[in-house]
Amino acid sequence: MLCLGVETSCDETSAAVVEDGHTIRSNIIASQIPVHRQYGGVVPELASRHHVERIGQVVDCALEQAGVGLQDLKLVGVTAGPGLVGALLVGLSYGKALAFGADIPFVGVHHLEGHIHAVRLEKEVAFPFLCLVVSGGHTELIEVQRFGKYTMLGKTRDDAAGEAFDKVAKMLGLGYPGGPILDELARRGDSRFTAFPRSLLSEGSLEFSFSGLKTSVLNFLLRNGWGPEGEGVEELKDHLPHIAASFQAAVVDVLLEKSMAAMERQGLTRLVVAGGVAANRYLRGRFETRVRAAGYELFIPSPVLCTDNAAMIAAVATYRFESGHRSPLDMNARANLPLNTTEGEG
Ligand code: KG4
Ligand code: ZN
Repeated sequence: MLCLGVETSCDETSAAVVEDGHTIRSNIIASQIPVHRQYGGVVPELASRHHVERIGQVVDCALEQAGVGLQDLKLVGVTAGPGLVGALLVGLSYGKALAFGADIPFVGVHHLEGHIHAVRLEKEVAFPFLCLVVSGGHTELIEVQRFGKYTMLGKTRDDAAGEAFDKVAKMLGLGYPGGPILDELARRGDSRFTAFPRSLLSEGSLEFSFSGLKTSVLNFLLRNGWGPEGEGVEELKDHLPHIAASFQAAVVDVLLEKSMAAMERQGLTRLVVAGGVAANRYLRGRFETRVRAAGYELFIPSPVLCTDNAAMIAAVATYRFESGHRSPLDMNARANLPLNTTEGEG
């Protein structure tokens, strides 16, 4: 059962062919980083235009690498939200048109649900599990009772973890995208250099907040003679790796402690960490040590399946299809598409 997945929610144009919901036959990702870098962040209008320019090629490439033709596909799955609406519309319209032309069903997929289940393309994960989703737009602790049944235990009150990485990198004059740049830089740094605040850590709730941390990095920089966009970096260049490492430690401490608290509170034994920030090497190392020491099982996808990709969308489309779901061809893209969750006591 071959499914073509399409993902264009932000700045990656991606198409993938996944067999039976678990075997990746191809997973093509065309990044727009060079397009947006000069603006210091994703420019929505440019993202849409570049998706339009590339989507055809990316889909053709995914089919070719998988060694299949349109006639071999049984399903098309596309991200329908959340994300940049103009960007989402490109993939959604393309996917729906392909499904219509090939006379096969189409399923619209929630982007977060893709992240939650991405690791299942590499390893079997038994239900129930806790999923910490950490991406550019989300920081959420979700209990996954089974496929499609989610309880929201806690989320960020303000910035997402990935957003904090991107904004802090920008302040340091390091450019975009901040996460991978800080990850690399911090490898040479000492996380004890300075203690940035661990927001909401002592409160015992499962909510997050990263905007205070961002401000505290900015105040630290200004106190040390920095300009708000990284001017003056030259003099303090030697300290950059230490600042990056100290910042990462503050983010990861909070993510780790809250995840452990949620595991204990919910009586769970399996933890999945998903989304772009889960590609961070320091985060992966800290979670490995701590989660294993507690006797829990830890699942983090390979970096390529942490960041946005269409394979995770094809997998979720297949699971939905197998449980009898089909989406109508007039389905629209929604920038704020909610994940169907019940509320936990945060
Ligand atoms: O999941 P994703 O690709 O897109 C969204 O759904 O948002 O996540 C992108 C976010 C960006 O904020 C990016 O800076 C961050 O993930 N990211 C990282 C790393 N790689 C990507 N953050 C920290 N360390 C990384 N290695
Ligand atoms: Zn994502």
